[in-house]
Order: sequence, then structure tokens, then C-alpha cells
Amino acid sequence: MTAHTESAIRNPQSAIHPVPFVDLQAQYRSIKSEIDAAIQRVLDTSAFILGREVEAFEREFAEYVGAQECVGVSNGTAAIQLALSACCIGAGDEVLVPANTFFASAEAVSTANASPVFVDCDPVTSTIDVNKIEAAITERTRAILPVHLYGQPADLDPVFEIAARHNLVVIEDAAQAHGARYKGRRTGALGRAGCFSFYPGKNLGACGEGGAVVTNDKEVARRLRMLRDHGSERKYHHEIIGYNFRLEGIQGAVLAVKLKHLDRWNELRRAHAARYRELLAPLEESGALSLPREMSYAEHVHHLFVVQTDERDALQKHLGEAGVQTGIHYPVPVHLQPAYAALRHAPGDFPESERQARRVLSLPMFAELTEEQIARVAEAIKQFAVGSRLSASI
Ligand SMILES: Cc1ncc(COP(=O)(O)O)c(C=O)c1O
Repeated sequence: MTAHTESAIRNPQSAIHPVPFVDLQAQYRSIKSEIDAAIQRVLDTSAFILGREVEAFEREFAEYVGAQECVGVSNGTAAIQLALSACCIGAGDEVLVPANTFFASAEAVSTANASPVFVDCDPVTSTIDVNKIEAAITERTRAILPVHLYGQPADLDPVFEIAARHNLVVIEDAAQAHGARYKGRRTGALGRAGCFSFYPGKNLGACGEGGAVVTNDKEVARRLRMLRDHGSERKYHHEIIGYNFRLEGIQGAVLAVKLKHLDRWNELRRAHAARYRELLAPLEESGALSLPREMSYAEHVHHLFVVQTDERDALQKHLGEAGVQTGIHYPVPVHLQPAYAALRHAPGDFPESERQARRVLSLPMFAELTEEQIARVAEAIKQFAVGSRLSASI
């Protein structure tokens, strides 16, 4: 008998209805008529690239975030690359990036021809450790790229204070933090530019690829619009060498529909996180499991609900057998990725990021998650704790 069938016999629910990590079908079903109508509108008008629907979404998203300008682009990685280029950061420049982030945060620095310089993460928030930023600054440093990882805003005030002292630009990577607030203000609109991804599984996700940069700087916005469209402001007149990084009309139309639901979805995510925390509190109190915390300065939007334990791999296996899908964000910190071998980093360079890479486990999290599904996830974790070394401390 396989472990899966054995666990299915003990817990028949797991075989019939696995708890998915994310359920995009559930979201689509809940707003199907609105999405279908928006896509039909684009088909009827053939405004496939940029166009009216994208412009309307850009206005609405800028207003939502509290920024003067929004420039829709083809994905979140392009958003970061173009934000750097529009701020005139490129060859010979260094950009400080957390070692604990999705690879694209650093990759976009490299594709903007600048060099990423890594900074370790904070043990509690998993975002950039503001106490370690200054030691990484050299005479070539031009920018800091804090990442609002998992939906938790990075502690921006110390970042701005350091940036002001060293004359650095702050560009926010808000790819996982649509709607999150730092000291009451939405993330993305607080630095020189803020970069968003609309990858389908994000809190605000397109029906395909999408991204945006928001900014209050009109000149940065003008350069962004040129860079995303072959360096051109006027058709067939090209001021600079740019890219084809335009947002599609269908994505603009879909995103405008979904934006209207974003606050409600984020509230549901926050409620699910609170329920997870309640159910798993005994394991946290015993020291068996670390749970994500919302900092006093932040309104966390829980793009991911990431727990930590030394028994991560065994717990993930157990949950898989119990029909609970999980993820690891991320198994290898960016400084140890083969793509950055030339930077000659070694294990031990950023110990907290490396520790988290060994310990993090993302539980199912999406707005449509049910109370029953959350209870099943928590129950399966508790079952594991009873039969494993986690139980030693409970
Ligand atoms: C923190 C972070 N930065 C950047 C990106 C890149 O966004 P995209 O996948 O849309 O290129 C992502 C997307 O997964 C992300 O999570």
C-alpha cells in the first residue's frame, strides 16, 4: 500500500477533495460573467495591445495605490527592469536586493545591466534586514530594492532614511503585495517607483502575464512609457532603444474587473491567516512551528501564508499524503543560485536567508479557501506534530 492510499483510508476526505495550494478556477467561477464580458469587449474592439482598456486600468490602479502614474507592462520582471532603467540605473551601478526573494527581483537588476548586491533578511518578517543594508553600500551603490515578500511590507522608513543619507533611489518590489499598507499607505507608491506583477496566482492576477510600475515622478513615467514601447512616444519615431514590454488589452480589461474585488479578497486572505494562526497557536507556543506575524507598521495581505519548521521536508511530505498541497518559497536563496555563481557567494554568506530556505513551507492560501479546508490543513499539521519530533515540545 502506498503512503498516499494508506493516508486516504485514514482520511477519506484527502483522496476525494485535496486542498489545493491555490484555486484559480474558484476565483473565475465567482466573477465569470464580469470577466467574460470584459474579454468580449476587447474582442469586439480589437484593442489587443495597450489601448483604452489598459489606459482605464492604469488610471484606476494608480488611484487605488495612491500614485499619480501607472504604466502597464508585460510582466513583473519587466516592471523592475524598466523602473531601474527609467531611474537611469544601469551599467556599473549596484542595487541592493534581499537574498531572500524570488529570483526575478535580482534578475531584473541584471537585465537592466546593473549588479545585484545581496542583503540578508530579517528573521521575523523575512523581508530585507534594515540593520544590514548600510554594510553593503559601496561607492557604486545607486538603489535599494526592498521586496514586500509574501504580502508583508518591508520596513520602509529605515530604508528611506539610509537612502536619503547615501543619495540612493528606492524602488519597491511590490509583486506580492497588491493592496498591502505600510503605516497606512499602500505599498508601491512610497518609493521613486513601485513594481507589480499580475501573474495569475497573485492577489491581483491577470489571465496571462502582466505587470505595472507606479510612480509619482512624471519624468520617470514618461521614460517608462517609451521604454515599454520600442523607445517611442509617437508611432515610428524612436527616441531611445527600448523594448516590447507592452501590456495586452485583454489583461487590462480583466485586471480592471478584478481590481474592484481586490480589497474584499485581501480581507478574506487576512481572515484565513487569522484562522490559521488561531488553530496553529498551540504549535507556535510550544516552539514547534513559527507562524507569520503582522508587524505593527504593516497591513499584511498574505499573498502566501508561510510557516517555518526544522522538519519542513517531512511536514511537506505528510501534508501531501493527507491531500494538502503546499509550496516552498524559496528553496534556494538568490545568492546561491547557479545563475549568480560568478558573484562567488558561498553558504554562510547570508545565514538567515539560508536558514529560511531550509525551513519555509507555504500553506494553501487564496480568497475562496473555506473554513473546512483551513481546519483540514491545521488538523493534518497537528497529526504530523503528534507523530514526529515536533511533538517533543508540545
Ligand atoms: C517578489 C517578486 N518579484 C518579481 C516577480 C516577477 O514577476 P513576473 O513573474 O510577473 O515577471 C515576482 C513574481 O513572481 C515576485 O514574486
